[in-house]
Amino acid sequence: MSLIRVSVAHVGLLFLLACSSCSGSASADVPRTITAYVKETTLLPCSITHEDDLPTMEWSKEGITPNITFLYRDGCETFAEKNPDFLHRTNLVLDNLKDGNLSQIIYNLRLSDGGRYQCRTLRGRRWQVEATVDLVVVAVSEPKLTVVPSAGDGVLLQCKAECWSSEPTVMFLDDQGNEIKAKDPKRDEALARCFTVTRRATLQAGTNRVICRAKHMNKTRDTEMYIPDNWMSSCSYIIAIVVTIGATFLFTCGLCLCRDRLCRKHGDIGKSIEHFSQEQIKPDVYFIVVSSSLPAPHQ
Ligand SMILES: *[C@@H]1O[C@H](CO)[C@@H](O)[C@H](O)[C@H]1NC(C)=O
Ligand SMILES: *[C@@H]1O[C@H](CO)[C@@H](O)[C@H](O)[C@H]1NC(C)=O
Ligand SMILES: *[C@@H]1O[C@H](CO)[C@@H](O)[C@H](O)[C@H]1NC(C)=O
Repeated sequence: MSLIRVSVAHVGLLFLLACSSCSGSASADVPRTITAYVKETTLLPCSITHEDDLPTMEWSKEGITPNITFLYRDGCETFAEKNPDFLHRTNLVLDNLKDGNLSQIIYNLRLSDGGRYQCRTLRGRRWQVEATVDLVVVAVSEPKLTVVPSAGDGVLLQCKAECWSSEPTVMFLDDQGNEIKAKDPKRDEALARCFTVTRRATLQAGTNRVICRAKHMNKTRDTEMYIPDNWMSSCSYIIAIVVTIGATFLFTCGLCLCRDRLCRKHGDIGKSIEHFSQEQIKPDVYFIVVSSSLPAPHQ
């Protein structure tokens, strides 16, 4: 039993050893994907086993001419064949060269940097591919948070993440960092080269700060908005006006009824009340009296 276990372990060990010895060439052909963001710095990995002399090596990019993004020859960078788009934007990790770390740094990433890169070393007269890297550059922008006019209750907010090169998720957060319930996002498919996602949420009373967050992988962009209390009451204000008009109507009716009753009792007093209601009591007087008796709208 234990004999079998030992031999199984040995086979496993042999398998691991075989794999580690072949992984060098296998990983050179299988592209590795690196995702990075516009204006940031990224590192395209490439490493060779330690050697005494650092070979001539280059990084190139598919589909551009010249396709060299970094050329290292005789111990220093050679600029002659370098693509001008990458001038002053690429480098190697110079401190790590002696360890066979040939990773390429690209600074200030542009959307156009996205594509397939190759790390090659010159062995005798033959170029050998050491690594293939697919770089995905994602463009992100600050989402726009706006108030949309609406007839309903509460304040309708819109968050728009415009022209991200990878589709972002868009969400609303309150001041405690909890997600606010929102309608399903709308995707704008019109622009094929980028993604625009719009989402709306109705804010209920008691929320004073809203964050609109657009997110792609672990990259987030936030836009914040403070909601003044009186915004929340803007629709209560409309209700207040409606109630006021209603109350004014009732008040006037009451006055009419009262006048009619008075009319029946005393003819001349009725006339004076009619005069009073037409000349003295202006509608804006009713308004102030009635609306001041309403509760504070935002509570
Ligand atoms: C760059 O050009 C060389 C020479 O034509 C070619 O061998 C190499 O594969 C190219 N690099 C890429 C990443 O396509
Ligand atoms: C190469 O160097 C970079 C920068 O120091 C480091 O992040 C990376 O892990 C190194 N790669 C290897 C294979 O050691
Ligand atoms: C965020 O994503 C980048 C690229 O996808 C990755 O390199 C990085 O390790 C991630 N960071 C965290 C904290 O997950």
